[in-house]
Amino acid sequence: MLKITKITIAFLLIAALGGCGKKAKTPETDNPAPSETPQESVQPTITPEATPASDNKDGEGDIMMEVPDLTSLDSITLIVNKQRPLGEDYEPADLVKPDVPLAKSSVTLRQEAADAMKVMFDAAKDDGISLMIGSGYRSYDYQKNLYNNYVARDGEEEANRYSAKPGQSEHQTGLAADLSGTNSSCYLKGCFKDTDEGIWLKENAWKYGFILRYPEGKEEITGYIFEPWHYRYFGKEEAQKIYESGLTVEEYYNLQD
Ligand code: DAL
Ligand code: ZN
Repeated sequence: MLKITKITIAFLLIAALGGCGKKAKTPETDNPAPSETPQESVQPTITPEATPASDNKDGEGDIMMEVPDLTSLDSITLIVNKQRPLGEDYEPADLVKPDVPLAKSSVTLRQEAADAMKVMFDAAKDDGISLMIGSGYRSYDYQKNLYNNYVARDGEEEANRYSAKPGQSEHQTGLAADLSGTNSSCYLKGCFKDTDEGIWLKENAWKYGFILRYPEGKEEITGYIFEPWHYRYFGKEEAQKIYESGLTVEEYYNLQD
C-alpha cells in the first residue's frame, strides 16, 4: 500500500462542476481498436501529490487519504482506462466461473470478485431482485473483435465513446462485469438505469465492493458514456469510499491528465 496524503479542493471543485453534457449513445452488445502501446504489465506510475485540505499549520484538519495499489496487475484496485492500458498477453491468474446466473456459461471473473458477486446476488435475491452476469472477463483478442465490429458499424469516433480499445477495457482485469436482470430487460441499454435491477444495483452494489464505473454525465472524465450496467469490483473498503465521495474513480484517485 502506498500511503499518501492528499486531496482536495481540486476534487471538491471537480465534483461540484459535474457532468459533461454530451449525449449518450447506447451500445447493444458487450463491447474494444488496437492500442499501439499496450505493453505488457506496464502501467504509468502514479504519483499522487499530497495536498492538505486545509492550511492548518500543525496539519490538524488535513484530509488524509490512504491510496491503495492502483498499478500492480494482481491488485484488486488496479486501474485500467484509456490512459492506463493492459498488455496484450495479460490474463488474470485466478479466473473462476461465478456461482450466479450467467448469460453465457463461459463467463469468468477473478476469484475475489466472483465471491463478492455471489454475496451481492444473494442479497439482491432477498430483496426480490434477480440478477445475471452478461459479460465478465474479456481477453485482449476478444475485446479487439468487439471493438472492430463497433468501429465497422458506427465509425471509430462513436465506437470510442462506448467501447474500450483492446488493452483498455476493465473487462480484461477480470474485475468488471456487465449486469442485468435474469429477464435481460434493457440489457446493455440506457433504460437499465430505470429497471428494478438497475436501481437496486445503484443503491446497493457498493456495500458488496462494486462501483458503478461509468456514471451519467461523466463522459469527459471517464472517457465513456453512462453505462448503468457496468460494475467494477474494488473491494468493500474502497468501494464505500468511492461511492460516498460521489466522484468517479478518475476523480477520486486524482488520475485525470
Ligand atoms: N464498455 C466498456 C467501456 C468496455 O468496453 O470495456
Ligand atoms: Zn462492461
